[in-house]
Amino acid sequence: MRIEDAVAQANEVVRGLLALSRNAPSHKVPTELGEVVSDTARLIRGLLPARIRLEIDVQPEQPVWVSGDKSQLQQLVLNLAVNSRDAIHGDGRILITARRIADTEGSADPVARLEISDTGEGIPPEMAEHIFEPFFSTRPREQGSGLGLAIVHGIVTDHGGRIQVRSDPGQGTTMAIDLPAIDPPPEASAELTPPAVQESRSQGMILVADDHRQIREIIAESLETAGFEVVSAADGNELLRLLDRHRKEVRLLVIDYDLPARSGVECVRTVRRAEGAPLPIIMITGAAAEGLEDALAGEALLLRKPFAMVDLVRVARRMTAVSENRGAP
Ligand SMILES: Nc1ncnc2c1ncn2[C@@H]1O[C@H](COP(=O)(O)OP(=O)(O)OP(=O)(O)O)[C@@H](O)[C@H]1O
Ligand SMILES: [Mg+2]
Repeated sequence: MRIEDAVAQANEVVRGLLALSRNAPSHKVPTELGEVVSDTARLIRGLLPARIRLEIDVQPEQPVWVSGDKSQLQQLVLNLAVNSRDAIHGDGRILITARRIADTEGSADPVARLEISDTGEGIPPEMAEHIFEPFFSTRPREQGSGLGLAIVHGIVTDHGGRIQVRSDPGQGTTMAIDLPAIDPPPEASAELTPPAVQESRSQGMILVADDHRQIREIIAESLETAGFEVVSAADGNELLRLLDRHRKEVRLLVIDYDLPARSGVECVRTVRRAEGAPLPIIMITGAAAEGLEDALAGEALLLRKPFAMVDLVRVARRMTAVSENRGAP
């Protein structure tokens, strides 16, 4: 019962992510595929039963740069991994790799290759040509909408890439995606090295309030991986209670707009009234939430879904750095 509950909730999160990404215009910046894979792996692990092993093979010392939209690329990896999960009925394995391939046959341009392989049931040859069609699905109606691969195809095309399917029925499937590789952006080498050092010491405490347990956990895990200590609340009252208890340590609040008990906006107002020193606040919202900017009156930074966890971490780093410097001479 409980397990089913968690699975249903996880599916809801995945569906939410799908729905959110569908209409979002893409925003391409230099993006490192290995980082996309590692980030998404955390989310995927939460969706896999124990009988399925997830292996990630990325090489941080050989970064794979593309011009891409990070949340769409995460979406792509997630959709493919979920398909692999659904294709594995007993024990099995999903392997995700990202590589930069220079000088492929017949092409001088370097290629960024992302591969998702599984040991699942495979795809019969006569079916292979249909799997990217919208609404093509072999899953029971309530499980599959048949949009996963259509979305993947859309994202790959939008990124100037192509996707190849190799499948042995009964053995497994590999989805190989080639995107145009780009040179590392100038600031990349500086940005990629520090985390290992940074993450060893605590970056400070962040209070996270969201009523969805899965989302709370994903946010907490991402922030903890980045070295923050995270305390989380399921509603507005709990948030204020926890803030009271940890006032000295808390450096940043991350609040969902749509909180039960006390709305996110109400929490922001209460905190602002009570706090002497301004505590940075990030408010997360999925809804269009007309007039929210006005209601917040610049008291909190608004982060609209869908956003990639790396973006949240980046903003959190920046905002906590600012609040740390404020007290310094
Ligand atoms: N790794 C895989 N192994 C075996 N079959 C696959 C794999 N990936 C996709 N398929 C087949 O392709 C079909 C279409 O996949 P797609 O992701 O578009 O839809 P879905 O998974 O059925 O539903 P949705 O992704 O919308 O929940 C699947 O129903 C399945 O039959
Ligand atoms: Mg699917």
